[in-house]
Order: sequence, then structure tokens, then C-alpha cells
Amino acid sequence: MTAQLIDGIALSKQLREHVAARTQALRQRGVQPGLAVILVGDNAASQVYVRNKVKACEEAGFHSVLERYDAGLSQQALLEHIERLNRDDRIHGILVQLPLPDHIDAQRVIEAISPEKDVDGFHIASAGALMTGLPGFWPCTPYGCLKMLDSIGYDLKGKHAVVIGRSNIVGKPMALMLLQRNATVTVCHSGTHDLAHFTRQADVIVAAVGKRNVLTADMVKPGAVVLDVGMNRNDAGKLCGDVDFDGVRQVASYLTPVPGGVGPMTITMLLVNTLESAERVAKLPS
Ligand code: GUN
Repeated sequence: MTAQLIDGIALSKQLREHVAARTQALRQRGVQPGLAVILVGDNAASQVYVRNKVKACEEAGFHSVLERYDAGLSQQALLEHIERLNRDDRIHGILVQLPLPDHIDAQRVIEAISPEKDVDGFHIASAGALMTGLPGFWPCTPYGCLKMLDSIGYDLKGKHAVVIGRSNIVGKPMALMLLQRNATVTVCHSGTHDLAHFTRQADVIVAAVGKRNVLTADMVKPGAVVLDVGMNRNDAGKLCGDVDFDGVRQVASYLTPVPGGVGPMTITMLLVNTLESAERVAKLPS
């Protein structure tokens, strides 16, 4: 079997066209979705990510602001910038790019963002809403993974999903989303003994560790669906995921490539969350 690739670029294009159309409708009612992105320091990867986020906002017809501060910015000053953006009616989403410099407590900063503007879905109010099944923002990367499964018409009910990785950004929220879709979910992590024992039973595997070749062909049940969240470099410096792409492609039924898979979907779901935040505000009686 050769896996079909789930094309995150094509799916993103389709979803972003829908976002742009809804944005235009909203703007005709006098509300333009607005996203503020804060970058502290000069982490090279973060600079590329935030540039792509702002560019995607502009293409969708959003108002967007990028606030860049040098690595020496104090935590107090950062909290004050967030407070200002919390009060700014033109801003419906606030994103603080991670990682932050070591002297800043990232969780403290995330909790300062108004939950109504937490389009990254990292606030404990958002995490709690996901956990309990209440409405709230879902973290963009796992949300994008779910959309990729939807795009192939995959029904998760009763399926065994194995998530490799337990980060707050991907692994944990991914597990909760899969659970909400009635999958049986196993979360594997660095303390798991015999990872292959679990992955071989999986109908769906989400690899979100940040290490090359975490998942190889011998660890995958024929016909499984494999989503690769990893973003690594191989020895030649080329971008690659957590999955041994060439090997797993011979076994899986569907597979997401890196690049061009989950990556673009993360930004797409950020646009969706920001748009929905603006739509919610537009519905409020003024
Ligand atoms: N750093 C890596 N991924 C993310 C993300 O999805 N959001 C933010 N804010 N920072 C990140």
C-alpha cells in the first residue's frame, strides 16, 4: 500500500477562502477581524512563524499588528502590553509567540490574555473548556489535525488513536479532541515503555514529539492514518517531521507530509479562531 498524502496546503487554501469570504461579510457589517502578534527576542524560527501569521491575516482581509520587542523586555512591560491589547476593540485575538526569554514566566503571560481573545487556546480557561466540552478556543495545531481527518471523511468513533507526545500545545489537547470525537485514545510519551506495542494497535497515529524517525514503518499497522506534527531538520538540513516518511508511506493509508502538511493548517486554524472571535463580538448587542 502507498499512502495517500493529505495536502495541508490545498486544504488550507480552501479553508482560507472560506475565512476570507466570511471576513468580507463581517467587514460589511463594520467589524474587521483583528489579530495582534507579540514577538519577544530574535529567535530565528519564531520570526519566520510570526511573519507567516501576519501575512496570512493580511491575505484574509484581517487587521493585524506585529509588536516586536527586544529580548530584554521585562515581564511587567509585556503584561502591560497585553493589558492594552485586551482593551483594544480592534483586536479580537492576541498571540504571544513562544518560546519567551527565560526571565519571563510564559504561563503567567498566557493567563494575562483575556480568554475572549485567546486565539491560541493556551489559557487555562480555554484548556478547561476543551476538557469539559464547553465552547472555547481550541489550540490551532491539533485543531488543524482534526480538520485534516475531517477532510478525508474519517469517522473517529470507536477507532483507536495513539498520540505520541504530551505537550500542552499539541499532545494533550489533541487527545481531548480525539476523545470528544469518540475515539479510544492512548497518549504515549518519553516515559512509555515499548512505544511500538501501542502504535501497532493504532488506527490513527499523531506524532508530536519533535524528534526525527520517532515512527518507523515497522511500528505502523497497515492502513493506519498517520499525522506528522514534527518540524525537524535532517542531516542535509532539510525540513522533516517525526515520521520516517518514505518507510511509513508504504504502510499507512493516509499520511501528512512535512513540509506542506500540518504546518499550514496551524495558521489556518489561527485565522478561523480569530474570525470566530470577531464574529462573536459582532453578535453582541452594542
Ligand atoms: N510556538 C510554537 N508553536 C506555537 C503556537 O502555536 N503558538 C504560539 N504562540 N507560539 C508557538
